[in-house]
Amino acid sequence: MKNNQPYLQKVQEVFKEKFSTTPSLFFSPGRINLIGEHVDYNDGYVLPAAIDKGVYYAIAKNGTEQIHFYSIDFNESYSTTLTALSKQGGWKDYVLSVVNEFVLLDKKIQGFDCVFCGDIPRGSGMSSSAAVEGGLAFALNQIFEYGLSRTQLALLCQRAEHNFPGVKCGIMDQFANMMGKANQVVLLDCQSLSHEYFPLQLKGYKLVLLNSKVHHSLAAGEYNVRRNQCEEGLKILETQYPSHSFRDITRWQELIPFESKMSKDVYSRCLYVVQEIQRTKQAVALLQQNDIEGFGQLMFQTHHGLSKLYNVSCAELDFLVEQAANSDAVIGARLMGGGFGGCTINIVKENQAEQFINNTSQQYHKQFGILPEAYLVQTADGVQAI
Ligand code: GLA
Repeated sequence: MKNNQPYLQKVQEVFKEKFSTTPSLFFSPGRINLIGEHVDYNDGYVLPAAIDKGVYYAIAKNGTEQIHFYSIDFNESYSTTLTALSKQGGWKDYVLSVVNEFVLLDKKIQGFDCVFCGDIPRGSGMSSSAAVEGGLAFALNQIFEYGLSRTQLALLCQRAEHNFPGVKCGIMDQFANMMGKANQVVLLDCQSLSHEYFPLQLKGYKLVLLNSKVHHSLAAGEYNVRRNQCEEGLKILETQYPSHSFRDITRWQELIPFESKMSKDVYSRCLYVVQEIQRTKQAVALLQQNDIEGFGQLMFQTHHGLSKLYNVSCAELDFLVEQAANSDAVIGARLMGGGFGGCTINIVKENQAEQFINNTSQQYHKQFGILPEAYLVQTADGVQAI
């Protein structure tokens, strides 16, 4: 178990320096996702877990109409009044948009002071954005006693990300952030939000994240382009399948008659989504049978689809996955999260993890002149008061 103390101490100390009152403290986790990528906004299934890296908050009411934020990592402050909330760019949009969602729900919000910092490398695909949103939403819900459930808070945070930051994300990250449990993965049905927990037991294996250090920015627009392409594809499919959902197409071959009716890009996106939804169902069954090798094979297939059909990989991520595929130590690997950079997730033989990390880091450095960072994943509970 990681020692959170240094971060908690830091937010507390900085808070005292800036505001001289006593704050409440919160930890809000990032997430990994084992399989089910880019299907949360397509009625698919996902298999994420909350992790021990995340965002730390110190927060207290201040009895005024003013809200004050200080981001330790950016060394920047921002203050505004509750009636003047608007898009500001950068980190500010993630916190201001959360406050704005409470206002839109007609929740009686009052002034507060807030200091936060985190230990998720930005743009690494571990969802620092959901951790920022979830920590603040949970804290405000608690200190102002709004009584919203964790699921309601996850949905609020998703709306917040759609609004000021403008990323039309699915529900996976915010759900994992709120609902995660230590040592468990959560199988989430993104259409109904029904979910089940499974113990994350990978006997003899470890989960290793390799950070390509290529910084993705989902806000850059490509994410929303993928989402629009899927919507366009679904509209064409609906002319024959009025079911309104990709999950109802259980065999990808059923898409073939539509190939001539769609642009090449839209067809490839639909093909990936239909395959990934089925793959995730198959992967969960394999995990339940303890067939970790079979599960790993499906991860490689997901990467192939993300790279060749969904087009959200890059040369650096493809290289890391290729190295993993060529290594005896690894049974499954793929890019994780939105893509365009960030981390790969690898299932690695426990006794060969160190050697794999060293070899791959060397090869990657030789190829791209960048030293990747490696993290051994530890799961955690969803956002909580400390
Ligand atoms: C980002 C989004 C999620 C999800 C993933 C891809 O993390 O926030 O909603 O779509 O990308 O699976």
